[in-house]
Amino acid sequence: MALVTTTEMFRKAYEGGYAIGAFNVNNMEIIQGITEAAAEEKAPLILQVSAGARKYAKHGYLMKLIEAAVADTGLPIAVHLDHGDDFEICKSCIDGGFTSVMIDGSKHAFEDNIRLTKQVVDYAHSKGVVVEGELGKLAGVEDDVNVADEDAQFTDPAEVEEFVTQTGVDSLAIAIGTSHGAYKFKPGQTPRLRFDILEDIQKRLPNFPIVLHGASSVIPEFVATVNQYGGRMPDAIGIPEEMLRQAAKSAVCKINIDSDLRLAMTATLREYMALHPDHFDPRQYLTPARTAIKDMVKRKLVNVLGCSGKA
Ligand code: G3H
Ligand code: 13P
Ligand code: ZN
Repeated sequence: MALVTTTEMFRKAYEGGYAIGAFNVNNMEIIQGITEAAAEEKAPLILQVSAGARKYAKHGYLMKLIEAAVADTGLPIAVHLDHGDDFEICKSCIDGGFTSVMIDGSKHAFEDNIRLTKQVVDYAHSKGVVVEGELGKLAGVEDDVNVADEDAQFTDPAEVEEFVTQTGVDSLAIAIGTSHGAYKFKPGQTPRLRFDILEDIQKRLPNFPIVLHGASSVIPEFVATVNQYGGRMPDAIGIPEEMLRQAAKSAVCKINIDSDLRLAMTATLREYMALHPDHFDPRQYLTPARTAIKDMVKRKLVNVLGCSGKA
């Protein structure tokens, strides 16, 4: 099995009422933890790489690790650029073997977003690569950019048909109340997703794959473990898994999860270091860290995505 695009995955996910997990990767242990979980669950998979991940690990290293995971598991895996900022980074990832890119023009005016997204689509499609666009602005932290709550904006359903037709994008990320990072809601706030906006968009774009970013649930026991072993994370609230499971049954075909994996890895490392102060072989502490990633991904495949057995 070679790397695949998301076209077939999304078609089956839409029809089957489930979603594909898109997990961010930064190093070998994260890639192995995610792909081992997906292999055991026989789940199709999207491994996504941010600009920050490319800077940290380098494009070539991540590509080779992902190719090794494909050979090792035999799974259909798409490799996707997460939050491409401009045409150049999208082109570089397309030329470097990615099967899918996101051009995130959500911070631009509508017309400029269309122009930029179309430029990427034209190039990507000429190379057999698919493109995710975005309309609406999520709150939260992404790379070095921090979108304040007051600057966040739900997607306007009245804009989606024009955006999709004019650009030719293959999937669309929308803002319905999810946000990036571990602090999605303030203490005391009740998490809420705008399913009414999602439904409206689904009616206007029949059979079209929708993407949800910022879909970590920030499970309290992991925050508690971080804090028990010397961490200082403030109270964090994410999107409840049942809400995301409901979204996965609709037109939502791709759900992005990063923070929950980071949190699981950090909690495990902190605990391990505290309980084994004499250990200094990286393999000793990275082994449980990798298992923590694997367990978290399995949890998401079962509780949120519903895509076990669909590979
Ligand atoms: O949405 C952003 C992802 O969580 C990736 O984060 O840009 O820090 O790698 P990053
Ligand atoms: P979380 O921060 O909620 O995990 O979102 C990740 C994401 O949207 C990556 O694009
Ligand atoms: Zn995102």
